[in-house]
Amino acid sequence: MPLPGQFVMELKFQNEIFDVVSSYVNLKRRGKNAIGLCPFHGEKTPSFYVYPESGSFYCFGCGAGGDVITFIEKIENFSYIESVHFLSNRAGMSIPDIDQDNGLMKVRERIFAANREAAKFFYKSLYQNEKALDYLKLRGISDNIIRRFGLGFAPISGFALADYLLKKGFSRDELIKANLVFANKSGVSDRFYNRIMFPIIDLRGNVIAFGGRTISDKVPKYLNTADTAVFKKSANLFALNLAKSAIKDSIILAEGYMDVIALHQFGFKTATATLGTALTIKQAKVISGCAKEVIICYDSDEAGQKATERAIPILKDEGLLVRVLTIPRGKDPDEFIRSFGQEGVFRFKQLINNSNNDMEYRLQKIRKLFDRDTVDGKIAYLKEAVKILCTLENNIEQEIYASRLSEEINIEKSSIMQQVKKGRNKLKKVSFNKKITDIQRNISATRDKINPEKSKFLRAASAEEALLSYMIHNPCEVENISKKLPPEEFCTDFNKRVYVNILQKIKKDPQINIGDFSEKFSSDEIGRITKFFISYISKNDMEKSVDEYINIITLEKNRVKIQESSSINSIEIENYFKILKSEKCGRN
Ligand code: GTP
Ligand code: MN
Repeated sequence: MPLPGQFVMELKFQNEIFDVVSSYVNLKRRGKNAIGLCPFHGEKTPSFYVYPESGSFYCFGCGAGGDVITFIEKIENFSYIESVHFLSNRAGMSIPDIDQDNGLMKVRERIFAANREAAKFFYKSLYQNEKALDYLKLRGISDNIIRRFGLGFAPISGFALADYLLKKGFSRDELIKANLVFANKSGVSDRFYNRIMFPIIDLRGNVIAFGGRTISDKVPKYLNTADTAVFKKSANLFALNLAKSAIKDSIILAEGYMDVIALHQFGFKTATATLGTALTIKQAKVISGCAKEVIICYDSDEAGQKATERAIPILKDEGLLVRVLTIPRGKDPDEFIRSFGQEGVFRFKQLINNSNNDMEYRLQKIRKLFDRDTVDGKIAYLKEAVKILCTLENNIEQEIYASRLSEEINIEKSSIMQQVKKGRNKLKKVSFNKKITDIQRNISATRDKINPEKSKFLRAASAEEALLSYMIHNPCEVENISKKLPPEEFCTDFNKRVYVNILQKIKKDPQINIGDFSEKFSSDEIGRITKFFISYISKNDMEKSVDEYINIITLEKNRVKIQESSSINSIEIENYFKILKSEKCGRN
C-alpha cells in the first residue's frame, strides 16, 4: 500500500533537497539552483545540479536524477521505504501506520540485531578462552583496547554461535542472510571459528560485519563477512566509527586490522584501514566526508608501495590532500610501533612529521632509479620528474616543484616549465577526448537502457519528450492534450508510460511532481523523467507548437503503421514466391 500523498509532501517539505544533498555533496549556489560534483560517478568538473524549487536533482554526466527520496535511495543504497524512514527520522516525523512493503528493511534490522548479539557473544567467549586471550596479550593488546574495539573470539566448536543465536530467537534464514552461518546437511554451522573477531561498525553505530583472524595456522589468515544487505566491503573502512570522532584534519590509512589497533593503542586515534582490499572510489568518498587529509601508512613491502601508488590518485580525485608515511626496515605499523615500547609514540610522531606529500613521495621514489651524476641519468630523471609534475592541476605548485628540480639538477627553471606545459596540454587533450567518448557512451547507454526505442524513432521521441515536459509544467493543459492525443499514438513505450501516468495523476490532483512516478518507475527511469522536469520550456515558446508536436507524433505513428503493414506485405510476397518455387519444383 502506498504512503499517503499528504505525508510524502510533508516529508519532502521537511527535508529540503539542498540541505539533504549538502551533507553528501559540496554544493555551490548558482542563482536559484546549486551545482556540485556528482556523487554517483567520478568527475572533476561539476555536472550535478540541484533544483530547490522543484525539489529535484539531475546529473548531466550520468543521467542520475529524481527527488530527495530518490537521492537517498541511490546514495545510501536504500529501498524506497528505507529512504522514507531515513528522511522521516531526519525530520523527526513519524510514518503513518500502514502496511508497508518493508521486507528488505526488516531483513536489515534483523541482521543488525543478529550482528549485535554475535558481537556480544564473541566478546564473552574471549574471556572464556585462555588461548585466545594469550594470543592478544602476546601481541601486546590491552584490555582497554579489547573493550574499545569490542574484540572477541569465535569458539572452535563451529556451532557455538549458531546455537546461541537460534536460542535467542533468530531464524536460520536470518543468520544465513547475515552471513554468520552456513547451511549444511545437519542444519547450520558457524562461518567463523577459532578466530579473533573484529566487529566492523558503521558511523551510526551498527555492527555491520566482522573480520576474523585465525589463531591457528589455518588459512585464510583473515576472513571477512561477505557482502550482505547491510554490508559492502568496498564501501566501508575498519574503525572509521572510532576515528571519525577524533579527526581534526587528517586521517591515517593503514592496511590491516592489527595496524589500526596498535595505532589507536598508542594514541593515534584517527587510524582506519580498508578491509583487506585495494582502496575504492567509494571509500575515498567516505573519507572525504570526514577529513581533509589522508596519511597513507601502508606496509613498506612492495605490495604496500604499489597499493600506495594506486591509492594516491583515487584520494586526490576526491579533493583530499595526501601524505605518504614510510616505515623503515620493511615493517608494518603494528610491528614498528610495538618494537619501541612506550617510545613508539614518539617514533611514530617523527614518521608523521617526516612524511612527504604525495609529490615529494613520488619524486623521491624515482630519484633512486637514476644516476643523476651522468648526463644521461639526469635527462632520464628529468623526463620522469616532468611527467609527475604534469599531474599537478595548480600552477603555483608546478612552479614550486619546477624551482626545486631546477636547483637540484642545475637546469633552467623556464625550460622545465616549458616541458611541463607541453605535457599538460597533451594530457588535457587525452582527457578531453576521453570525456567526449565517455559522454557519448553514456548517452547512448542510458538512452538504450531507459528508452530503447528512442534511437529508432528519434523525431517522434523528441516531440514526445517536449510534450511531456510541457505538460509537467502546464498541468492545466493536460486534459486538452489528452483529447487530441490518445496514448496509443505514442511511438516509444517508455514515453507512453510516462504519459499515461500523467493522465492518471491529473484526474486526482491538478499538480505533477516527481514523486508521482516513484511507484511505477525504476530509479534510473526517474532520472530520465527528472530531465523532463528541468528542461523547462516556457508557455510562450511552446503554445504554438503543442499542436505541431502532436502532429509530428501522429504522423510518425502513421509512418510506423504503414511500415509495419508493408513489411507484412513483403512477407506475403516472399511466401508467394516460395509457393511458386515449390510448385515449379513439383512440376519438374
Ligand atoms: P597480522 O599478521 O595479524 O599482523 O596482520 P596484518 O594486518 O599484518 O596482515 P597482512 O599485512 O598480511 O594483511 C593486511 C590486511 O589484509 C589484513 O588486516 C586483512 O584485512 C587483509 N588480509 C590479509 N590476509 C588475508 C586473507 O587471507 N584473506 C583476506 N580476506 N584478507 C586478508
Ligand atoms: Mn602485521
